[in-house]
Amino acid sequence: MPIRNRLAELHPEITGWRRHLHENPELLYEVHETAAFVAERLKEMGVDEITPGIGKTGVVAVIKGKTDTSGRVIGLRADMDALPIHEASGVDYASKVPGKMHACGHDGHTSILLGAAKYLAETRNFDGTAVFIFQPAEEGGAGAKAMCDDGLMARWGIQEVYGLHNAPGVPTGSFAIRPGALLASSDEFEITVTGKGGHAAAPHDAVDTTLVASQIVVSLQSVVSRTIDPIKRVVLTVGTFNTDSSASNIIAHQAILEGTVRTLDSECRALAQERVNAIVAGTAAAFGATAEVVWTSGYPVTVNHDDQTAFAADAARAVAGDVIDDVDPIMPSEDFAYMLEERPGAYMFLGNGDTAQCHHPAYVFDDEAIPAGSSWFVELVERRMPAA
Ligand code: NI
Repeated sequence: MPIRNRLAELHPEITGWRRHLHENPELLYEVHETAAFVAERLKEMGVDEITPGIGKTGVVAVIKGKTDTSGRVIGLRADMDALPIHEASGVDYASKVPGKMHACGHDGHTSILLGAAKYLAETRNFDGTAVFIFQPAEEGGAGAKAMCDDGLMARWGIQEVYGLHNAPGVPTGSFAIRPGALLASSDEFEITVTGKGGHAAAPHDAVDTTLVASQIVVSLQSVVSRTIDPIKRVVLTVGTFNTDSSASNIIAHQAILEGTVRTLDSECRALAQERVNAIVAGTAAAFGATAEVVWTSGYPVTVNHDDQTAFAADAARAVAGDVIDDVDPIMPSEDFAYMLEERPGAYMFLGNGDTAQCHHPAYVFDDEAIPAGSSWFVELVERRMPAA
């Protein structure tokens, strides 16, 4: 069965929640108003349990089915945080907060999951327990990890976990997924190169840090092209290059390079780091400079589990008919990866139509995708834990 009648009826109400959240974006762990709004809606629905303050500002809610002979518990997750972007979408419910915007559609994800909660709280036509996870700080703050570190999975006995993300460029309301790696790991590096500053006219008395750092940038491009198996996918980008020289006639003493490495498996992740470290140390030494690399580990690879992916695709087929179940992986990263490290589960893409990409000031979440998203969560619950 496709979209359920009741979810179609709830569509305007859910859209209203979504637009309220859109007008009031909050960043990272500072999602206090958003979490309060979520908890308030859940309370109105009469869910069985609401626990705020998990992972600092996350909210966990429980809805029990009519029966619980299965002993099954599945977790459904949405992210709540916005981005430090000044909105330029032109919609009439645009952000009221200058410099903050729901530019990744997390307002949509939160509302979709609330919609599923409302439906399931009314019907409870399943045999087991559904746990609703509303997390803070997906955008760089590892809110999913913070919730896991607070004991999320064990405390609520979660056995499997599912989430979704809207996908611009995919037809609205359609679904796409793949087993295995879906989104990349993300690690940041900062390289400090120290040579010997001096007069631009006397290079023989200096060690030209700008030249050494330039050689490093060029050599780093060999990491992916010459050491990674060409069948694998790795990105290495140097994003910033700054020196402490402030004039054309000064040879810099120090340079700082910042960049990121994205991979789709942990072996490539380790190999890329090892090669970056070796190239930086060797290149600096060859020119008589010194260099230090500091790594900041970001999110791991988001890896969908095989059985849960097939199940998630079946649930999506029940909602939308055809489902792409071998979509190409993409190189952004996603902190749902941490939840998938703790429990089997799957992460689904939900089409958002022909809109600007996520993280763009003109991005618009397509409210027409809501019924499909909410229906998918409902299908997961009712199919995994069929009414006794
Ligand atoms: Ni996002």
